Amino acid sequence: MTERNNWEQSVEKTIKRFPERKETFTTSSNIKVDKLYANENTDKYEEKLGYPGSYPYTRGIQPTMYRSRFWTMRQYAGFGSALETNKRFRYLLEQGQTGLSVAFDLPTQIGYDSDDAMAEGEVGKVGVAIDTLHDMEQLLDQIPLDKVSTSMTINAPASVLLCMYIAVGEKQGVSLDKLTGTIQNDILKEYIARGTYIFPPKPSMRLITNIFEFCQLHVPKFNTISISGYHIREAGSTAVQEVAFTIANGMAYVDAALKAGLDIDAFAPRLAFFFNAHNHFFEEVAKFRAARRIWAKIMKEHYKAKDAKSWKMRFHTQTGGSTLTAQQPDNNIVRVTLQALAAVMGGTQSLHTNSRDEALSLPTEDSARIALRTQQIIAHESGVADTIDPFAGSFYVEELTDKIEDEVYKYIDRVNELGGAVKAIEEGFMQREIQHNAYETQKRIEKEDEIIVGLNKFKLDEEVNPDLLKVDEALEQAQKKSVKMTRENRNQEKVNMALINLKKQAKKEDVNLIPYILDAVKQYATIGEICNVLRDEFGEFTGI
Ligand code: 3HC
Repeated sequence: MTERNNWEQSVEKTIKRFPERKETFTTSSNIKVDKLYANENTDKYEEKLGYPGSYPYTRGIQPTMYRSRFWTMRQYAGFGSALETNKRFRYLLEQGQTGLSVAFDLPTQIGYDSDDAMAEGEVGKVGVAIDTLHDMEQLLDQIPLDKVSTSMTINAPASVLLCMYIAVGEKQGVSLDKLTGTIQNDILKEYIARGTYIFPPKPSMRLITNIFEFCQLHVPKFNTISISGYHIREAGSTAVQEVAFTIANGMAYVDAALKAGLDIDAFAPRLAFFFNAHNHFFEEVAKFRAARRIWAKIMKEHYKAKDAKSWKMRFHTQTGGSTLTAQQPDNNIVRVTLQALAAVMGGTQSLHTNSRDEALSLPTEDSARIALRTQQIIAHESGVADTIDPFAGSFYVEELTDKIEDEVYKYIDRVNELGGAVKAIEEGFMQREIQHNAYETQKRIEKEDEIIVGLNKFKLDEEVNPDLLKVDEALEQAQKKSVKMTRENRNQEKVNMALINLKKQAKKEDVNLIPYILDAVKQYATIGEICNVLRDEFGEFTGI
C-alpha cells in the first residue's frame, strides 16, 4: 500500500468524526478544489513532506486539516474581576469564538492574593484577578466545561489554577475525563523571557511533571503544557531561535518527565506548543512546517516514542504583539491579518489574533470583535482553508523550510552541548542570543533599514487617539474585599489542615502534590496561601 493510499484511508476514517465542511469545494469560477495537491515524484517527497496526518507531518497533523474543522478561534481575554471577564468570554463565544483563553493578572500569575502588598496597583490590570475557587466559579459561570475547551496562561502556579478549573468542573457535574483545555505550565520560557516565575527550576519541574502525571491518570483530554515560543519571539528572537529554544525546552520537559518515571507515550500526546506569527509572511509559514518536522523526528528517532500521537506537534499561534504600533492603530488590523494568514498557511490548530489597540491598552470590545472577525474572514471568505498546505512544493517555501530546519538543529546542538535547556538558561545562553537579535532589530528600525509603516515611515503629523479600555480603579478595592469575605466565610480549620498537609507532602520529593493542592483549593484556600506554603518549602527563584 502506498503512502498515498494510507492517507486516503486515514481521510475516510477521519471524516466519520469530522466530516468535510462542504460537499464540494470550488473557486468562484467553479473550478474544483482538491483536498491536496502533491507531486510524489518530487525528490524525497515522502521523506521530507509526506501526507497530512502522517509522519513527519510537514503538511499538517490531521489528514483533512481545515477541510473538516477550522482551527480553534481562541481569543486571549481577561481583565478586572471574574465577573467582568466572564461577560467578555460570553460575548466572544456569542460572536463565534470556538475556544476560551484566560489572561490572568500579574498577582495571580506570581501567586499573590489581591490584598497582598506585592499586588498593589496590579490587581486586574493585565488579566483577571483570581484569588480563590470563588473567583473561578464566577469566571466560568454559564460556560459549559464539557463543551468549551479553555486555555489558561498560567505557569508558576499552574497547579493551583488547574485544580480550581477541575473543582469548577466537578461543581458543574462534568467528569474530569471530559474536561478539555490547556494549561501553559511552561516555566523555562518564564526564566528566559516572560518573567512570571516563583520557584527555582528543580521544584518547578517537579510541579510540571506532577501535572503531566495527574492529568494522564485523571484528566486525559487536558493538554498539560503549552511549550511556548511566543514570548521568546516577543523578547526579540529570530524565527529560528524561537523554534530552536522552544523545542530545546520541550526536550527538557520530556527528559524531566522520563526522569520522574513517566512513560513517554502516556504523557507526550498531551504536550502542546505555542508560537508567534510575525511579519515575514513566508518565513513564518516555513517556520511552522519546519517545527513540525523537527519535533516529529526528535520524538520518533531520539526519544523512540512509539505512538504517532507522541510525534505530532499541535500548536496554538498568537499574532505578534510586539509588531503592533501605537501609531495609526488601525494599521494593526492589516498586520494581524497577514500574520494570521501565515499561521493558517502554516497549519496552526488554534489561533489568537491581536486587537488593533493593544500597543496602547487591553482591547476594547469593538477591537476584540474585529480581531475575531479577521479570523472568520480568512476562514470563510479567502478559500485558503479549502486545500491542505497549499505552499507545499513551492521552490521558495520548501527551500526556506529546509534552511530553517538546518539552522534550528544547529541551535539545538549548541544547547545540548551546554547540557540542555535548563543549563543553557542558567548560563544565560538563550537570553544573550535573544538580546543580541533584539538590539540588532531595533538598530535596523532606527536606521530605517527596516520599515515599520506609521512608525518610521508614512507618519502622521498628529495621531488620532482611539477610545481605549480603562480598567476601573475601584476594582482593586472590590477584589480585596471579596477575598477577605471568602476567607471569613470558609471553614478555617479545614483550610489549615489542607495547608499543613500540603506543606508536609511538599517535603517529600517523590510525592505528586496535585491531589493536596486540589484539596486546599476546594476548601477555598487562596492562591497566595497555597503558593506561600510552597515558597516556604521550595524557596523563591531570584533570576539568572
Ligand atoms: N481532523 C481530525 N481531528 C481533528 C481535526 C481534523 N481536521 N481538527 C481537530 N481535530 C480534533 C483534535 O484531534 C482534538 O481531538 P483530541 O483532543 O481528541 O485529539 C480536537 O479535535 C480539538 O482539536 P485541537 O486539539 O487541534 O484544538 P484545540 O483548540 O482543542 O487545541 C492546542 C489546540 C494547540 C492543542 C491546545 O494546546 C490549545 O488550545 N492551546 C491554546 C493555548 C493558548 O491559547 N495560549 C494562549 C497564551 S496567551 C500568552 O501566553 C501570551 C501572553 O503572555 C501575552
